[in-house]
Amino acid sequence: MEETVGRGLEDVVVAESDICFIDGHEGRLLYRGYNVDDLAREATYEEVAYLLWHGHLPKSAELKAFTEAIGKEAFLPPDVLAFLAGVPAGATPMEVLRTAVSMLSLSDPTSEHVGDQTDRTKALRLLAKTPSIVAAFDRLRNHQKPVMPRPDFGLAKNFLYMLHGEPPVDEDAHILDVCLILHADHEFNASTFAARVTAGTLSDMYSAITSAIGTLKGPLHGGANEQVMRMLLEIGAEDKVESWIKDALANKKKISGFGHRVYRTEDPRARHLRAFSEEIGTRRGDLKYFRMTQKVEQTVFAEKGIYLNVDLYSGSVYYQMGIAIDLFTPIFAIARTAGWTTHVMEQLAHNRLIRPRAQYVGPERELWVPIEKR
Ligand code: SDX
Repeated sequence: MEETVGRGLEDVVVAESDICFIDGHEGRLLYRGYNVDDLAREATYEEVAYLLWHGHLPKSAELKAFTEAIGKEAFLPPDVLAFLAGVPAGATPMEVLRTAVSMLSLSDPTSEHVGDQTDRTKALRLLAKTPSIVAAFDRLRNHQKPVMPRPDFGLAKNFLYMLHGEPPVDEDAHILDVCLILHADHEFNASTFAARVTAGTLSDMYSAITSAIGTLKGPLHGGANEQVMRMLLEIGAEDKVESWIKDALANKKKISGFGHRVYRTEDPRARHLRAFSEEIGTRRGDLKYFRMTQKVEQTVFAEKGIYLNVDLYSGSVYYQMGIAIDLFTPIFAIARTAGWTTHVMEQLAHNRLIRPRAQYVGPERELWVPIEKR
């Protein structure tokens, strides 16, 4: 039997991939060799999704056609809209998204095809429809009619338009577009690996993305951004941050938005989100949540030397954009659909079933005892 590896597969390399590179010590992140800082500054989310899928940046005609194809696919099938309208009160957006994405396979006649050109079509449907699912659900749970997507809007702008019922200000649309870029992929994180394990059995794209959404939902992973905002609201004011954090750490609590399995320095995505949190707060004339988050960052680092991750400032960014807290992780899922679908297609292109072993530490030889003698 092979020797056992680090708990949680820490630092275990399980496959080659040419999609995403993370330098945990330098705090560097590349998508297909492009630095995420350059992509955040220069690209659109659609451009990054195209880069992830195709391995190269699109020419302008390719980007135009891709963006239009996403806009056309943003409409939801009637069965999904009917499901969203009938969801029991109190259902969380992540469980609704997980269920609705799974339902998308029912209206796709090629849903059982695996490993052929239809995977790219499924990936486009998933990329285009996840924002519409999240926005339509939020409207319906607030007793409002869903807003039909505008195919002429980009994905980020369309999401805010469908959510709020009116076009967003350009600055908010741009900030969300960059947030989607920053969350688009991240190598073999838990939800991506779940998608690859599912695809590795030659199950279909919808099943793989449903696995990923269920995995992202956890507070140790994608759910952290919602926990950060709930923490800030519970703390309530900047002058209460230090004592609250010190008390939480003294009670061995994990502070959401901090720590990472791979980064041993600042998460390169965090500096963009930190700047956005300050920019939105300045624009809105209220820096409270930016300053509170900054104080949290300083206190945790001073107390435990632990760096922030992508989730810390995204909480105050989305909150200040007027987005409901329980939509933060669905936004992460919307963005990561580009990465998840890319990894599914890479897994299928060089597939071998993913099946590790366990080090058995249970009892060796139990003798049968008839029930009357137990
Ligand atoms: C994401 O993998 C990815 O790439 C994920 C992601 C992506 O883009 O897909 O980057 C997105 O999921 C970011 C992480 C979001 N999660 C959180 O913010 C939740 C809080 N973070 C922790 O639960 C933790 O840092 C993890 C889960 C992110 C990483 O956990 P590890 O690698 O298993 O580390 P660990 O729990 O073993 O902690 C090591 C030490 C421990 O101290 P000791 O007990 O050894 O003294 O660091 C401490 C931990 O207590 N620690 C923390 C902490 N994170 C680690 N202490 C307080 N608060 C924290 N957040």
